[in-house]
Amino acid sequence: MKIKKRLGVNIDHVATIRNARGEKYPNPLHAALVAQKSGADSITIHLREDRRHIKDHDLRIIKKKLKIPLNLEMSATKEMFKIAIKHKPNYVCIVPEKRQEITTEGGLNLHHKINFLKQIILNLKKKNIRVALFIEPKISDVIISKKIGADCVELHTGRYCNLFNNKNKTKSSFLSIKKAAIYGKKIGLDVHAGHGLTYDTLRHISKIHPISEFNIGHFIIAESIFIGLKKSIKKFKKIIDG
Ligand code: PXP
Repeated sequence: MKIKKRLGVNIDHVATIRNARGEKYPNPLHAALVAQKSGADSITIHLREDRRHIKDHDLRIIKKKLKIPLNLEMSATKEMFKIAIKHKPNYVCIVPEKRQEITTEGGLNLHHKINFLKQIILNLKKKNIRVALFIEPKISDVIISKKIGADCVELHTGRYCNLFNNKNKTKSSFLSIKKAAIYGKKIGLDVHAGHGLTYDTLRHISKIHPISEFNIGHFIIAESIFIGLKKSIKKFKKIIDG
């Protein structure tokens, strides 16, 4: 049976543009509502520890006004855990975070603070929050994710996209994603993918059938400058729907 594939629209960079001038516009809530109207299946925001784009008040108002599910990306810290429990997003995706990085550069290190991670997952799930772990496309990480109770894995597509964009060989990277996706689905995880995806890379990655959700941000917001948010989302939806 063909799985219905979902598009999560990440609106962090609407906040990046707003914060660049310290103004109130463009408003991430407005972007979330336009994305919702344009066919997004969920909205993703990453509340970073340094609050460089999305701020706490964005999370509060978006959670209040949005009708489709809200996916909160966060690091595995006590502070973020408390925020998630308070605001109860529908989904949480736990990501690694380094202060100096420009974006989330790799998947989680699942050998670090594993008991703490397990506890966070358990407690979020008790509040009916779906929990995904952002991991490298490696079978060993898929196995650990399942063991520590995650509902889903989000496979990091950044390496594949970089190779593709620089016209390098992508076969082995693509196969790693495919194998991790097939294995994840087989052991009962929901499998997602994200990072660095564009129209071209999504056309390839969306052919990996076990992947049921794609979380895309930077390219959608960049395309919006030229064709608008609505059209950009619709183009991505069309690619996902095949
Ligand atoms: N998925 C996760 C877990 C991420 O951390 C990010 C970046 O915030 C994305 C997806 C979206 O990546 P991009 O903005 O490159 O599309």
